[in-house]
Formats: sequence, structure tokens, C-alpha cells
Amino acid sequence: MSQLERRPLIAGNWKMNGLKASSAELVRIIQGAANVGAGADLLICPPATLIMSFAEAARGSRIAVGGQDCRAEPSGAFTGDVSAEMLADLGATAVIVGHSERRTLHQETDAVVRAKAAAAWRAGLTAIVCIGETRAEREAGQTLAVLGRQLDGSLPAGVSAANLVIAYEPVWAIGTGLTPTSGDVAQAHEFIRERIVATHGEAGQAVRILYGGSVKPSNARELMAIANVDGTLVGGASLKATDFLGIAAAYS
Ligand code: PGA
Repeated sequence: MSQLERRPLIAGNWKMNGLKASSAELVRIIQGAANVGAGADLLICPPATLIMSFAEAARGSRIAVGGQDCRAEPSGAFTGDVSAEMLADLGATAVIVGHSERRTLHQETDAVVRAKAAAAWRAGLTAIVCIGETRAEREAGQTLAVLGRQLDGSLPAGVSAANLVIAYEPVWAIGTGLTPTSGDVAQAHEFIRERIVATHGEAGQAVRILYGGSVKPSNARELMAIANVDGTLVGGASLKATDFLGIAAAYS
């Protein structure tokens, strides 16, 4: 399957940012989205506290709403946690799992991430599974070995284009303003594509692979031109409608 056949996805990860008043920014995104990025799917992942109001505001628009994490169990004595079913109940259609901040700050292993991806599927959500190497791993020449290990450990069986998106996010590029060279992105994405197809069969050809880490309107076009880059996962720049829409404009 060629890149042209995979519909790009621009996903915004708001992280722990946003209060009720932030719905004004969402409205600007919804309104602006009518004019940009017609060839792409657009997704905003606000904090869990805003999913319900965002999903209601975005109903009928081009903007889908997703979660940033979920617990693997559907319900139970897990104080403070949120299940995939709860996210779906609020109107989410996707959930990010295995973001590097979760892997680092909450010690999430590949096995935990795999269980969360399976929970997303159980609840009918698309799992956006994040992988990526640290600076030390890159400098040690371990990048592809790390990506292979994370893919093998983090993906449940039963992968499809509808239920899975991979986000390649070099940890050292997140929130730093640094990005890998186009050649390095191309190499990582080609490796990820080959690994998913080798492990999960031809369905892996249709799975979208996003690049994430310091994506801005100024570098979005260059990144989207790279083979096997099927969109982006945007952190900081997704908080401002003008920046998020500026990135989406690269996919018009
Ligand atoms: P950034 O974050 O765009 O702020 O670098 C990306 C991410 O963590 O998903």
C-alpha cells in the first residue's frame, strides 16, 4: 500500500494542559478545520477532564477527540485511574498509550502498554501506541533495536488499520525543539513498517505511522514528505489553534 492510500492523521496531545475555558481554543480549531487539511483526519486529545465537553462541542465537525492514557482494566478499585470504556463513554474514539512521559514517569513497561492497547480495542477505541529511543540509546546506535523491542512488546495480536496507529517519538525530540534528520526519520519509519508487516502481516501496510517530537507549522511539510510518515502527533504546538491548523495545512 502506498503512502497516498493511508489517510494522514494529525493528532494533538494537550498533555496536562487545559481548563474549561480552553473550549474557546477548541472552537477555533473546529472552525479553522473547515478550511485546512481536507485530506487528513484531525484528532485532539485533551486531559480526561475535558473529553466530555470537547466531544460534545466537536460533534458533527471534522475534529475527533481522544484520551491520553487508560488503565487496562475496565473498572475496579484503581483510585484515580480511567478505563478505556470510560473514555469511550465520554465520546472519545482513540487513546494514546505508552507515551514516553507515561513510560518514564509511571514506569510503564511494554507489557503494560500492550495491555492498555488491548483495553482500547476492547472499548472500540483506536490505540495510538508511542515508541521512541532516548538520546543515550541513539548515541549508542541502539535506535532500531529499541524500536523493534518496543513494537514486539507493546502491540497485541489483531492489528488493523482501524484499531492501531503507531507514533514514533524520539524521546530527545519531545518538547525540545530538536528533530531528527529527514534521513533518520525515514530510516525509523521504514524499519517500523517492515517490523509491523513481518509480525502482524499485510494489515501492517495500512497502519498509520506518525512522527512526533517538536513538530511545528514550519517543519510539518518537510516531515510529511518522508516515506511512511502518515501524519504527526503534536504536543506543544497543538495547544494553539493557529499552530495546530498550520500543521494541518501541510496536509491539504
Ligand atoms: P512536542 O510533544 O510536540 O511538544 O514535542 C510531542 C509529544 O509528546 O507527543
